[in-house]
Amino acid sequence: MLSAGGGIEIGSNTLLGPGVTIWSQNHKYMSRAIPIYKQGWTYQRVVIEDDVWIAARAIILPGVKIGKGAVIGAGSVVTKDVASFAIVAGVPSRQVKMRPDSSWGTMEEEPHESAGLA
Ligand SMILES: CC(C)(COP(=O)(O)OP(=O)(O)OC[C@H]1O[C@@H](n2cnc3c(N)ncnc32)[C@H](O)[C@@H]1OP(=O)(O)O)[C@@H](O)C(=O)NCCC(=O)NCCS
Repeated sequence: MLSAGGGIEIGSNTLLGPGVTIWSQNHKYMSRAIPIYKQGWTYQRVVIEDDVWIAARAIILPGVKIGKGAVIGAGSVVTKDVASFAIVAGVPSRQVKMRPDSSWGTMEEEPHESAGLA
């Protein structure tokens, strides 16, 4: 589910797994005297760069920027920006490692046979 009131940018070749939710707005809650649902919204753009994999059921919160090539683990709640090529996981998500800087494979050598795209 994408809640795009504040804007969501999604780059090329980015994967969203099943059950991913991305939020670009929050309810305002500053007044205790007014029901939250009457206080309106704040909006913060979410930016997801190219070639990001957001695994199943991850939640991306308003204002987050996810750098190119990052991986978001299943079930993560992403509250802060994610560096390019970082792998983050958990609630709240933390960086667990970086993707290896390897020259393994090329698009020509590894066609997407399993996806029927070869
Ligand atoms: C994020 C992911 C790709 C990392 O895989 P990996 O590179 O093999 O990483 P590892 O299994 O070595 O895990 C590294 C550390 O992160 C932790 N970790 C990995 N995935 C996690 C997750 N989703 N939530 C919380 N912690 C996680 C591991 O427990 C490990 O912690 P440790 O160092 O304390 O033992 C993988 O764990 C994942 O979440 N895959 C998503 C699967 C999925 O949703 N598939 C559907 C297609 S969208």
